[in-house]
Amino acid sequence: MFDPDAIRADFPLLGRTVRDGKSLVYLDSGATAQKPQPVIDAELAFYTQSNAAVHRGAHQLAEEATEAYEFARTAVANFVGADEDEIVWTKNATEALNLIAHGFLNASLAASAKTTGSGSASDVVSDAAQERYGLRAGDEIVVSEAEHHANLVPWQQLAAKTGATLRWIGLTDEGRLDPETYSVIGPRTRILAITHASNVTGAITDVPELVRRARAVGAYVVLDACQTAAHMPVDLHALDVDFAAFSAHKMVGPTGVGALFGKRELLEDLPPFLTGGSMVEVVTMESTSFMPPPQRFEAGTQMVAQVIGFRAAVEYLDALGMDQVAAHEAEMAQRMIDGIADVPGVRLLGPQDSADRLAVVAFEVESVHPHDVGQVLDSLGVAVRVGHHCAQPIHRRLGVHASARASAGVYTTAADVDAFIAGLHEVRRFFGLAESAAPAVRGGV
Ligand SMILES: Cc1ncc(COP(=O)(O)O)c(C=O)c1O
Repeated sequence: MFDPDAIRADFPLLGRTVRDGKSLVYLDSGATAQKPQPVIDAELAFYTQSNAAVHRGAHQLAEEATEAYEFARTAVANFVGADEDEIVWTKNATEALNLIAHGFLNASLAASAKTTGSGSASDVVSDAAQERYGLRAGDEIVVSEAEHHANLVPWQQLAAKTGATLRWIGLTDEGRLDPETYSVIGPRTRILAITHASNVTGAITDVPELVRRARAVGAYVVLDACQTAAHMPVDLHALDVDFAAFSAHKMVGPTGVGALFGKRELLEDLPPFLTGGSMVEVVTMESTSFMPPPQRFEAGTQMVAQVIGFRAAVEYLDALGMDQVAAHEAEMAQRMIDGIADVPGVRLLGPQDSADRLAVVAFEVESVHPHDVGQVLDSLGVAVRVGHHCAQPIHRRLGVHASARASAGVYTTAADVDAFIAGLHEVRRFFGLAESAAPAVRGGV
């Protein structure tokens, strides 16, 4: 049975108090999740027993570290329905998305250098890669208005540097991707880069329909799975996307590690992003040949302890069962939505029901700045996020500059949600907006 109270016991930090002895109500898992003991133990065990650089050295520690590092790749690949040679370690999802965009950029630069006969960039990028990934004026990259900046700015940059045009799928008033605007995906689309779920509204994207449209025009699909990977089953092969990105720290894993997924045959000739040690075969003073993927994309000394912690995180989530996690969080989403509906003057940004959405709930309190909302909630021990959540365009579309956001994780309980809702009543009372009988808040506020 899925028992969030028992799960909480695995997360030492959730046992602490904040703001003068208040129980912590952590509703900021959309920003970063807390870590269970097995993840902390995995990192500790690595540092106390096997610490060494991977893929180098002939000693036992290097061997153990390399084995654990590669075993983690298999575990994370299995968790998202991929093969191990389709997973590249990155610092986070942002780096993974930049890696893809720079692969396209480097191919574009090489193709353009070949056309103009200038420079030697084309030497290191195969003709096939130039053909496959090179963008030029007239090509189009499609994103959506709901993107986190991490899945928007790199594509803006790529468009600006290659002369390609950035287009976007618009949003409904509820903040869902608007099917009426899917027609921006057209014959000139080369890349469709789309979020799996909004980090503001929690709305889940209809990926199969968008993949179908992208396939029809021969465009590559990049999926930002940052918000979904820890909250619902994700099978990248079944979704049939070409590339995907996610971060361990949102998946009850360590900070400092994320992953890029790329279909094997695409990673084969995608030009590298970062270059240097550990990703090369032969280096002369004039030129370099690169290793096959995934090593080709893992330049420099790697974050081995974090990778091993990432494995422990996906094993932890797997043991809970992602179907059960999704069902529990849907309940939490519904409880938040219902609770908010009962607080006068609070506007939910995003879908008003829990269908096809995550327990990521942004809202605004009438005439109170989100930072003030966050501060009052914080004084009660309730941690939410405030600001634009690195997604300014969707806020603009929804008619606000910023919002407050509550987001759940595997350890979120009904009592957490109730404390949050009681906190919203308190926000209104504090700012003299209305007298309301607030339900009791856990932690003796
Ligand atoms: C939807 C989405 N995409 C991308 C990111 C970027 O993740 P990271 O900061 O771990 O690179 C986030 C983080 O908030 C996110 O929510």
